[in-house]
Amino acid sequence: MKEFKRTLITTALPYANGPVHIGHLAGVYVPADIYARYLRLKGEEVLMIGGSDEHGVPITIKAKNEGVTPQDIVDRYHKIIKDSFDGLGISFDVYGRTTSDTHRKTASDFFKKLYEKGEFIEKASMQLYDEEAGQFLADRYVTGTCPHCGNEHAYGDQCEACGTSLNATDLINPKSAITGNTPILKETTHFYLPLDKWQSRLEEWILKDHKEWKSNVYGQCKSWLEMGLQPRAVSRDLDWGIPVPVEGAEGKVLYVWFDAPIGYISNTIDLVGEDYTKWWKDPETRMLHFIGKDNIVFHCIVFPSMLMADGTYNLPDNVPANEFLNLEDDKISTSRNWAVWVHEYLEEFPGKQDVLRYVLTANAPETKDNNFTWKDFQMRNNSELVAILGNFVNRAVVLTHKYFNGVLPEAGNLTEAEEKLIEEIRNLKKEMSEALDTFHFREALRLAMDMARAGNKYLQETEPWKVAKTDMARTATILNTAIQTCANLSIAFEPFLPFMSAKLVKMLGGDKISWDMLGCFDLVPTGAKIGEPELLFEKIEDSAVEAQVQKLLDTKKANELKAWKPEPVKEDVDFETFEKVDIRVGKVLECSKVKKSKKLLQFLIEDGMGTRTILSGIAQSYEDPSVLVGKEICFVANFAPRKMMGIESQGMIMSAVNPDGTLTVIGPTGPVQPGAQVG
Ligand code: MF3
Ligand code: ZN
Repeated sequence: MKEFKRTLITTALPYANGPVHIGHLAGVYVPADIYARYLRLKGEEVLMIGGSDEHGVPITIKAKNEGVTPQDIVDRYHKIIKDSFDGLGISFDVYGRTTSDTHRKTASDFFKKLYEKGEFIEKASMQLYDEEAGQFLADRYVTGTCPHCGNEHAYGDQCEACGTSLNATDLINPKSAITGNTPILKETTHFYLPLDKWQSRLEEWILKDHKEWKSNVYGQCKSWLEMGLQPRAVSRDLDWGIPVPVEGAEGKVLYVWFDAPIGYISNTIDLVGEDYTKWWKDPETRMLHFIGKDNIVFHCIVFPSMLMADGTYNLPDNVPANEFLNLEDDKISTSRNWAVWVHEYLEEFPGKQDVLRYVLTANAPETKDNNFTWKDFQMRNNSELVAILGNFVNRAVVLTHKYFNGVLPEAGNLTEAEEKLIEEIRNLKKEMSEALDTFHFREALRLAMDMARAGNKYLQETEPWKVAKTDMARTATILNTAIQTCANLSIAFEPFLPFMSAKLVKMLGGDKISWDMLGCFDLVPTGAKIGEPELLFEKIEDSAVEAQVQKLLDTKKANELKAWKPEPVKEDVDFETFEKVDIRVGKVLECSKVKKSKKLLQFLIEDGMGTRTILSGIAQSYEDPSVLVGKEICFVANFAPRKMMGIESQGMIMSAVNPDGTLTVIGPTGPVQPGAQVG
């Protein structure tokens, strides 16, 4: 293994066109933060770089839809995103943005250098152009019919109905999203980075020299390389982005995926100035990119090709990309609002940052897609954080107060019980270090929890509350050991649960902690005043998670309504056919559920001529059928009578079908005599 002096951690720059959600956290920011905190605890030199990705077409579309400028959009979401990360304790050394002056200059200079070195190909191609708007149409600005499945609302880059990725020029009957006009084809010239030029170096570097990369990352790179790399366009005809710094390229900007990764460099410059070369160009610096799986090709192939084309930069040493997190068994989606938004979580669960960090790490999608459910969130809080970790610390601190007034007593001779515990914690530390060093954060967290379990077991076995009745010297040893174990937990959990850790360190009267200290049992000095016992975690009640589930159900309902389309109109009928149906107004005299039937309601209707009984299969839409009593409704009077559940039904109640499948009985809008004909 190569030895490095320092580590540069980059985290994918989230698009500033929406807030961040738990999927972002689980995939990128929580694991990166765990790793950065772990290295800092080890006393290593480390920088963790983040920022918002503020260019790209979706931002311009959102701005257009809202009637504001793209800058308004990114200003709004950059703030929300930054506050979310701060609130959750994601410990960036810098969190910048790609609309900053530093970034504009850095990205522009980067491009210029490659241009001057002759690293680009210029190529003309035919692109869709909206004549009325006077602009070329980015893929997202074109809709049309999918050539694969016939969906009439496919986007220029992808058909959401069949999932095929498309080129805007593939669409049948393309329409501009700006004016609705049919675009024309017009020639335009763009700059291409010839990835094929770097193919063999990339193969050597990834496939031969980095066999240790996670299999999901290595596998994706391998299949890209096997397909053979092609030149990739790195400019766009767009008015939002960093202008291409070449004469004659007016109206063109850098492609968002060209400028965004350079944001890692710009943000480093914003933080350390000229010293950035130490972090980016010194071969003794190790660079790691934390990303989600949809970013793999850009970080393993495209950005490295850019860096190689420049020729003075390091390549990443590892790219520990994660898979995706689902929410309640459904794909997280910003556009469908199917997400737990971090800023909302922080508001709705104040003081519970560590709970979310814990659950997201315990369920991290490290090797496969994983699922977040509110039930699991509650369960992990109540039966792991509260019942194991919180409970152990609380018992140790409460007992120290009870028997020693909160002053740490001196430990006497250690017995087998203490030795077993100490050895177990030292072994767990070793295993934890191995897991953390190889980016297995779920495993590392499980091992940390095993330390707390070991503490509980130790108290269960040594029973200081019983020993205290006869042997205070032995009680002192036990509680000293228990408090030292708490101090160990404050270190082991710091990368994962920094808020809890800080609280615990303070409770134990400590200040600085380090990874070296983990496994030591003299961390809290004899005579130290232990703080008042303070609960580290509290139970989460059913009502709190039920409210969250309800919020998601409401979202689902709203989405169904948005997606709902009326049934197509049936084929024509002539008047004579229509006239055969005798529709009347009736007044509901009685209405109740039919016994033993889930579906049927029994109506007694006044129909102007007398009364009649009608059965209707709408019981599931009316929790309380009595609400219909006294109402005027429409019914088909000559619907042939039929018997159901032993009752004869003499007609049919008319109801409208709602998007969710429930039914609403319909009736007149003004006073009408029962028996009146409808037609
Ligand atoms: N904004 C991109 C996304 O959310 C990630 C950009 S990462 C960077 O998928 F490398 F380009 F910065
Ligand atoms: Zn399709």
